[in-house]
Amino acid sequence: MSTPSKIKTVTLRTLNKFKEDNEKFTCLTAYESTMASVISDAGVDVILVGDSLGMVIQGHDSTLPVTMDQLIYHLECVVKGNNNSHIMADMPFMSYSTDDLGFENAKKLMQAGANSIKIEGGEWISKMAKVLSDRGIPVCAHMGLTPQTINRIGGHHVQGRDPTQKEKIINEAIALEKSGASMLLLECVPGDLAKLITQELQIPVIGIGAGVHTDGQIMVVHDLLGISCLEKPPKFVKNFMNESSSIQSAIENYVKDVKELKFPSKEHTFE
Ligand code: KIV
Repeated sequence: MSTPSKIKTVTLRTLNKFKEDNEKFTCLTAYESTMASVISDAGVDVILVGDSLGMVIQGHDSTLPVTMDQLIYHLECVVKGNNNSHIMADMPFMSYSTDDLGFENAKKLMQAGANSIKIEGGEWISKMAKVLSDRGIPVCAHMGLTPQTINRIGGHHVQGRDPTQKEKIINEAIALEKSGASMLLLECVPGDLAKLITQELQIPVIGIGAGVHTDGQIMVVHDLLGISCLEKPPKFVKNFMNESSSIQSAIENYVKDVKELKFPSKEHTFE
């Protein structure tokens, strides 16, 4: 008979406590059961079943083709492999374009085993954050570079560099927290802006390409393992396999470096 695991499951409360204690936490993407198990055993706090699966699993050049059924399939695989991590699931492109649709699809993800859901956008998703949060679904609002609106943004550019854009991001982040968002994810924003927002908000702030000062860090697991499909990985990516002898130890080194504020360093941060 196997001994029951003594490690506690990571909940929203755990993540809030990390923020309160000023202790960094880690997040990684996973799309299938074996990798989810390795990631969870390495001590990663949050596993994101991200719509980045459109690129790293399906070979598309954006997240737009990913469907709800595909996301649910990968989520179910991850749930089976997970041990103690908090599982966040992405709501795919157009799966929350109306409140009713968003509500139905968030319900499906939670019933498939997610502990929270992630939606992209600014103030326009406030109402949905409130509706879902009031009904017990923790929402992570994804701001800054939002890959589902890549066609409107016109490429993978750093967001919040000019004063007007910066102010808009700050105000929208505050509005989202007020409406009930439980977490915020900032992608590709200058480090000083991410720091300011992290200090301003009570909810945990997760960063990717947002510098060292956010409460948590997230990476796409393929990037961490140096098997990115891109010719040149983005500035904020670090290949942890360069200094590790196995996948397990690369993930453990990522956890260690984030906890010790060694990653992301200046070279991974936008000024
Ligand atoms: O889908 C994803 O993997 C993401 C991360 C890049 C944050 O949203």
